[in-house]
Amino acid sequence: MLRTHTCGELTKKDIKKEVILCGWVHRRRDHGGIIFIDLRDRYGLTQITFDPEVDKKAYQVADKLRSEWVIKVKGKIVARPADMINKKLKTGEIEVEITELEIFSQSKTPPFEIEEEKDIKVNEELRMKYRYIDLRRKARADILIKRHQFINFIRDYLNKKDFIEIETPMLSKSTPEGARDFLVPSRLHRGSFYALPQSPQQYKQLLMISGVDKYFQIAKCFRDEDTRGERQAEFTQLDLEMSFADESDIMDLTEDLFTKAIEKIFSKKKILKKPWPRLNYDDVILKYGTDKPDLRFGLEIEDVTEIVKDSGFKVFADMAKKNGYAVRAICASGAVKFSRKDIDDLTNFVAQFGAKGLAYIVIKDKGELQSPIVKFLGEEIARDIVKKLKAKPGDIIFFGADKKSVVCEVLSQLRNELGRRLKLIDLNILALAFIVNFPLFEEEKEGEHFAPEHHMFTAPVKEDIKLLDKNPAKVRSRQYDMVGNGHEIGGGSIRIHDAKLQEKIFDLIGFDEKKKKEFRHFLRAFEYGVPPHGGIAPGLDRVLMVCMNQDSIRDVMAFPKTGDGRDLTMEAPGEVENKQLEELGIKIDKE
Ligand code: AMO
Ligand code: AMP
Repeated sequence: MLRTHTCGELTKKDIKKEVILCGWVHRRRDHGGIIFIDLRDRYGLTQITFDPEVDKKAYQVADKLRSEWVIKVKGKIVARPADMINKKLKTGEIEVEITELEIFSQSKTPPFEIEEEKDIKVNEELRMKYRYIDLRRKARADILIKRHQFINFIRDYLNKKDFIEIETPMLSKSTPEGARDFLVPSRLHRGSFYALPQSPQQYKQLLMISGVDKYFQIAKCFRDEDTRGERQAEFTQLDLEMSFADESDIMDLTEDLFTKAIEKIFSKKKILKKPWPRLNYDDVILKYGTDKPDLRFGLEIEDVTEIVKDSGFKVFADMAKKNGYAVRAICASGAVKFSRKDIDDLTNFVAQFGAKGLAYIVIKDKGELQSPIVKFLGEEIARDIVKKLKAKPGDIIFFGADKKSVVCEVLSQLRNELGRRLKLIDLNILALAFIVNFPLFEEEKEGEHFAPEHHMFTAPVKEDIKLLDKNPAKVRSRQYDMVGNGHEIGGGSIRIHDAKLQEKIFDLIGFDEKKKKEFRHFLRAFEYGVPPHGGIAPGLDRVLMVCMNQDSIRDVMAFPKTGDGRDLTMEAPGEVENKQLEELGIKIDKE
């Protein structure tokens, strides 16, 4: 052992002990001929002193020390003078008088400061390039510790419930989860490729067919898509699957597990509603414009299509009469304080989501209506709208009129923006819910085949199977999504366990014989006795991002990738030797 203690544990009761500490030079001060250094390691800070009268040699070497040098020191613990006590530090009542110093390594001046207190806003690319320095900062390291504790809790919990953790291959065959695959060329089978799993979906279903009964894995998933705020090309799921289980078995278990894990690891957070609400897909699309609503605040959307249909405001009346179009509105309580410029900003904000304008009605003090559109709508219709939205003096009603999908997108984004601007979001609250009763297929696009809303292994609701031939768009699925504070933090479903039904779904989504052949391994397994089964996969990075109020998923990962998929610390991706390419039979077309 190089050290006797860490930098975070020595207190008054250790006074007079001889100790050896190791760590980084965090901060250095010189006072009246004595050098004071805060020595730092993962566990904390300890003040050490070099006094020429205590040890001249150590003092002379210490004079060279600079920030981030790594050292080992030996010395005696003494009480700090009363006026030097630092109540904020666990070790704040003591210091160590050093008699021996060894320098392990020196450091260049770091590219950014590590001191937390300064709360310096450092350019993220720089932080990612020097991730190992960034991670020395306490707030960053604490996130990794929380992540570890959270995953540890999950493992313990599932272990007690008889789940077994099974690793599934990384070098595999494409599991179509909707994104692009990362491909790995095979040297032994030239021209053939492995695909990195987008999720272990097929493997976990094969494990159910193997009789495993209850499976889980802290699984790495790979999706070659643009990385944005809550999206990374490489991320981690808690992947789980159970046999002889239905929707409520999976949701109940997930809810209990995550409620307990959050309450244990993030004890300051308050889960808004327990049990978590289970909300219908159709209802949330209408009320919030999205299937991942932020339920920390109200501001629900109302449909006013019927009210404005025969009004004199042509923009609304025209939209209201068209099939597949809608006019919807949202009441921003207390928004009367918004200036003209605020409203212009909001109009520009919604334009990026396809809004052609942002009509509004302000309800003034005495209830009078101020709006550029009331004179066209007519006072009576305007009053009906005010009534439907339960708007009060001091509120502003905002409108979206367009194709339903555009109105949903625009108003859901507007709703979140209003939540922020009106300060309706309590950062200590976690609003968790399940969304249920999804349609099996996404909205039909002209000239295209049906695309699964979740994935192609999700089972339709039993009573709706008969609709698969006549009216596939109406078929409901056995999917459930987990949402938290406006993010989709998990997705799962009860699976198809019948080969014929699985083939039928393949047909509906437009698989030809060749494509179907790619799944013959999967359908083959279906010929040997399949238990009914289902599961879920919460995205752990997203869960942690939400629990720790981080703006970006990158902040909860040790080595995240940039928006364009680079690992700046490792400088990946990188070129490889020609010889490696030759072995794989690959020629690079630089175009
Ligand atoms: P799905 O594709 O819905 O389902 O993914 C489940 C959860 O994984 C997280 N997630 C991501 N997190 C970060 N970056 C990404 N690019 C990313 N993509 C997805 C989300 C999402 O809710 N096999 C199915 C699960 C199942 O049916 O059991 C699946 O992967 O939190
Ligand atoms: P106009 O008659 O085009 O000047 O529009 C009158 C008001 O309606 C303006 O405040 C516009 O921003 C708004 N508006 C126009 N088109 C839409 C639309 N599709 N949805 C919501 N508001 C709109």
